[in-house]
Amino acid sequence: MKNNKRIQSIAVLCSGGDAPGMNAAVRAVVRYGIYEKLDMYGVYKGYSGLLEGNLEKMSLRSVANIIQRGGTILKTDRCKAFFEKKARQEATHILHRKSIDALVVIGGDGSYMGAHLMDIENSYPVIGIPGTIDNDIYGSEYTIGFDTAVNTALDAIDRIRDTANSHDRAFLVEVMGRTSAEIALRVGVSGGAETIVVPEKANINIVGELSVSLKKSAAQGKLSSIVIVAEGDKPGITYRIAKELKNRSGIDARVAILGHIQRGGRPSAMDRFMASLMGAKAVECLLQGKSDLAIGVEKNQIVALPFSKILGKHKKTDEKLLKLVQILAA
Ligand code: F6P
Repeated sequence: MKNNKRIQSIAVLCSGGDAPGMNAAVRAVVRYGIYEKLDMYGVYKGYSGLLEGNLEKMSLRSVANIIQRGGTILKTDRCKAFFEKKARQEATHILHRKSIDALVVIGGDGSYMGAHLMDIENSYPVIGIPGTIDNDIYGSEYTIGFDTAVNTALDAIDRIRDTANSHDRAFLVEVMGRTSAEIALRVGVSGGAETIVVPEKANINIVGELSVSLKKSAAQGKLSSIVIVAEGDKPGITYRIAKELKNRSGIDARVAILGHIQRGGRPSAMDRFMASLMGAKAVECLLQGKSDLAIGVEKNQIVALPFSKILGKHKKTDEKLLKLVQILAA
């Protein structure tokens, strides 16, 4: 439905794993749209909800008192059906039938793929806002939820440090991040970890390296240590690493898997702030007739990049940070 007609109405949905700050983004999209005299709609339960026509008109009050809340009032899901072209076409028909001119999708790279395809296949304007704790979207320095998740993990690690120190123990702490090491890197540096195990290295001689590192620390008089393990695509892998560490080197490390606790809780100031700027930018782009774009952060500025430039690409693990953690753990 791309033409030169000014957009009159926009729907917003959340997709993929929830992230603290998604509510602030929904609020910004809805309120900025209403400020621009648009009709605004909220879609419940992501792309699945869209396919069921599960949406309603939002008012200024619909998004009141949510900026400080974790999760998403719109709910979210991971919709397999949306991998099908037919489903994306059906979604477009549903939006047309409701006289909704454009869609804003708040989610991660899987959700972005659906957004991009829906836009180009059906000529229907879609804009993405990066909402995932993983901070793994190529082309954007930041994703909504990352800061809160890192702070939640750090809070847990500070507590683990107390007990690790009291017992002179090593702890292996597993953090989220699917195939991305961004949370692990940030948490590892900021939490004073001994070392970080990243997904791409989890199958190499990680146990051998860990044992050398922990023994060296002990020889230097360091009796407790925190190792951060990025879950990779095998959540729970840390139990296996701990078992092998015990069998091969006798080190009896305890395991703490932080899991979904990292996805909940009040969004940090940073997440609320970024979500507010990004929500407004998404609406501005649509009003300027732009679409098929992902909002992001580049050199600390809010930008809008074509989906085609970022999809299928991955952020590289920052090797310098991996090294720095080890230097500072002396
Ligand atoms: O949302 C991102 C994420 O939290 C990843 O870090 C994690 O691997 C995955 O989602 C977990 O997904 P689910 O909630 O489906 O278990």
